[in-house]
Amino acid sequence: MIIDRITADGYKNLEEIDIELDPKMNIICGENAQGKTNLVEAVWLCSGCRSFRGTRDKDFIGFTKDAARVGMDFTDSVRSQRIEFEVRKGSVKDKIVTLNGVKLPLLSKLFGSFRCVVFTPEDLDLIKGSPDNRRSFADLSIAQVKPSYVSALNKYNMILAQRNAALKSVGRDGSGAEFMDVWNEQLVKAGTYISVLRYAFCITLNNYTKLLYSSITDGKENLDLYYHSTVYDTLDGRLNDTEKLEAEYAEKLKSSAENDFRAGFTTVGVHRDDIGAYINGLSVRDFGSQGQARSAALSMKLAHARILKAEQGEYPVMLLDDVLSELDEKRRRFILNNIDDMQVIITCCDERSVTDMAEGKIFRMKNGRAEIK
Ligand SMILES: Nc1ncnc2c1ncn2[C@@H]1O[C@H](COP(=O)(O)OP(=O)(O)OP(=O)(O)O)[C@@H](O)[C@H]1O
Ligand SMILES: [Mg+2]
Repeated sequence: MIIDRITADGYKNLEEIDIELDPKMNIICGENAQGKTNLVEAVWLCSGCRSFRGTRDKDFIGFTKDAARVGMDFTDSVRSQRIEFEVRKGSVKDKIVTLNGVKLPLLSKLFGSFRCVVFTPEDLDLIKGSPDNRRSFADLSIAQVKPSYVSALNKYNMILAQRNAALKSVGRDGSGAEFMDVWNEQLVKAGTYISVLRYAFCITLNNYTKLLYSSITDGKENLDLYYHSTVYDTLDGRLNDTEKLEAEYAEKLKSSAENDFRAGFTTVGVHRDDIGAYINGLSVRDFGSQGQARSAALSMKLAHARILKAEQGEYPVMLLDDVLSELDEKRRRFILNNIDDMQVIITCCDERSVTDMAEGKIFRMKNGRAEIK
């Protein structure tokens, strides 16, 4: 997948952006607060995902502007397509979103048409942050190749919320909990399905990540990722045994009931699972250095791009926001030279960090305007 052209105006501080991208490497250089991340974010929104900075839709619009407009031409192995969206002041809910000229009701309906993978400094949380960062990463990655996963996840979350609300109305001793079986039954079905897909994803992710991390560290360090289920002791070799897995899930919910009554929420299940990352056997979250955590998170994102390529025959566009800043020279060079056939957009403050780049385009970002160097 390749972006041919990006236009943006009134999206945060972006002004009259109209750039044609290189099919491989694109560097956006500029001082702090010039709009580099805003541009990356505008591209990311075209994938139908929410802002990775958690920006609310009304804050898309530039402080002094009436509307935010973003347009993108992109090409995959089959055809060229165009995405446009516009958010106007006073009617933020009525966004105008079009794919190839056809109106869509929501930005999220773009999901699946244009695919990209983003790495930002906040992705350090993928390693150092709380488990929900890792669960979201797995969930989004799985959803990108298996759209039906989203409905299972939504269903699970809905039942979980209802079960938790019910738990609050039940006595701490469990009195009045007869109706719990109804929630359990539905939770088990969705929960087992999610466990199986996440576990399988983790194995694939680990295979790719391991290789990438080993190359980044010149073979000196070994990274391993494991799926930690709060329900199953192991899922190894059991992924097709749905009946048994569902029975085990149900049993776990039952045996945790007392804890749930006491806590007032559901204490086990896929909403509490985690992915552990270990370098040479030690937890990166607990013992890893900043650079190790960053390289591990980056390896996971690059691995994600490769999984998309393997599953769909097409690389996503790779968006690397400020990725070069905390890496040493060797790791930097590795990234610039190991992006396969992907199109990449990299932002950086210091042009010198990309001087050994073999090919591609460099854009300078200043006060929200981008110019080719
Ligand atoms: N709705 C908005 N309207 C106008 N400007 C905005 C809006 N939201 C954010 N900004 C401004 O956009 C500017 C640039 O933000 P951005 O995060 O893109 O900078 P950057 O070039 O990535 O900087 P850094 O190198 O520090 O990461 C900030 O100064 C911010 O105040
Ligand atoms: Mg930035």
